[in-house]
Amino acid sequence: MNRNHARLCSSDRWIRYIGKDVVAPISQRVRLGRRMLEVGPGPGAATEHLRHLVADLTLLELDEAAVAALEERYAGAGVSVQAGDATAMPFPDASFDSVGAFTVLHHVPTVAQQDRILAEALRVLRPGGVFVGADSLPATAVHDFHRGDVYNPVDPGTFFTRLKTVGFAAVTIEQDEELIFIARKAKQR
Ligand SMILES: C[S@@+](CC[C@H](N)C(=O)[O-])C[C@H]1O[C@@H](n2cnc3c(N)ncnc32)[C@H](O)[C@@H]1O
Repeated sequence: MNRNHARLCSSDRWIRYIGKDVVAPISQRVRLGRRMLEVGPGPGAATEHLRHLVADLTLLELDEAAVAALEERYAGAGVSVQAGDATAMPFPDASFDSVGAFTVLHHVPTVAQQDRILAEALRVLRPGGVFVGADSLPATAVHDFHRGDVYNPVDPGTFFTRLKTVGFAAVTIEQDEELIFIARKAKQR
């Protein structure tokens, strides 16, 4: 993350925004269940809300400095922090009731790597589990904000099909200030 991000993503304003406009509307629409995985938590803006909504929250973060800060912050708080890459998640199949990715996908350099994350989210979900999250919509101002950083915004026009193509059964995409998605893994027959 560049300096712009480090400042914004750990600010009280961003934590409030993620809670009110992203996590709350999603959690009102779907059951996140007991066991949740959050990928790319960064400084933990979504984590701050998710940890009160599920019994067992696991974080998977690529950046070692962010992992160290999260470990320190959540020591003894019932949140498990793991270093790793969401394109190859270090968890067995069907480990979680829900997986969340908040403001992460546009930091993933290629569409193929983004699709690996979608496929991995599907694999680690139990049947009937949900993959939820949000991402910024492509915009010049957002592009400029990412100067010197990875910026690969998700195309809202194809995201539904990409989630369906990796195998999600039911997909809802909402496009307002951000792209918000809810994708359900099929229940076992
Ligand atoms: C902008 S931050 C998002 C922070 C937080 N989720 C939020 O909404 O404020 C994106 C985070 O995703 C992490 N990330 C990027 N690619 C990843 C990957 N392949 N696996 C795990 N984490 C990744 C980055 O290291 C960064 O901490």
